[in-house]
Amino acid sequence: MDSMKNIRRYQGAVDRGMWERLNGHKALAIWFTGLSGAGKSTIAHEVEKTLFDRGMRVKVFDGDNVRHGLCGDLSFSLEARAENTRRIAEMVKLFLENGTICLCAFISPLRADRLRVREIVGAGDFHEAFVSCPVGECERRDTKGYYRLAREGKIKNYTGVSAPYDAPLDPELLLETEKMSIRDSVEAVVAYILKTSAL
Ligand SMILES: Nc1ncnc2c1ncn2[C@@H]1O[C@H](COP(=O)(O)OP(=O)(O)OP(=O)(O)O)[C@@H](O)[C@H]1O
Ligand SMILES: [Mg+2]
Repeated sequence: MDSMKNIRRYQGAVDRGMWERLNGHKALAIWFTGLSGAGKSTIAHEVEKTLFDRGMRVKVFDGDNVRHGLCGDLSFSLEARAENTRRIAEMVKLFLENGTICLCAFISPLRADRLRVREIVGAGDFHEAFVSCPVGECERRDTKGYYRLAREGKIKNYTGVSAPYDAPLDPELLLETEKMSIRDSVEAVVAYILKTSAL
């Protein structure tokens, strides 16, 4: 890009490997994808607390929260959704350089968008966790009351009701929250992270 030609990266003295040694573990990103109400935020925040208690460097990135700040200027058009995803991926990449275990809870319904995140973040650092739950059960939970509004047509393009969800084909983690307890899912994610982030 022409506007970038006079911008050079500054190479600092502190790199990712140094942060990882200081933290005592590698950095990685777990990308929780699934329908609204499937349990992404619930599981991600429980995992965060468990890892924090073990003295690990960890951060949750949550869809609703970034929409308030970093991506507060974006709509829900297809272009804006793609830009939303790009910004999140770039932000996660910065946190990985800082040695952080990034727990990302985003519906991210489109396979193509998740693939783009995998490319930006880097395949070796990106681990997909499919928080799988039948839409009927999500609707029964209806934690935000949005399924009812979507069924009444008051919210358009609602994932699982009036907009598609592409289930991951080969996720690193499968969490079936209709069958597994919250604790089961949290334990599975924590075990995966401890194994994968070991130095
Ligand atoms: N086995 C389970 N695993 C996870 N959550 C469960 C389970 N059983 C019941 N729940 C409940 O389901 C709800 C899941 O809501 P949560 O906000 O975590 O979903 P979400 O995937 O983050 O949705 P959104 O995309 O709308 O943010 C919570 O109220 C949680 O207590
Ligand atoms: Mg959530």
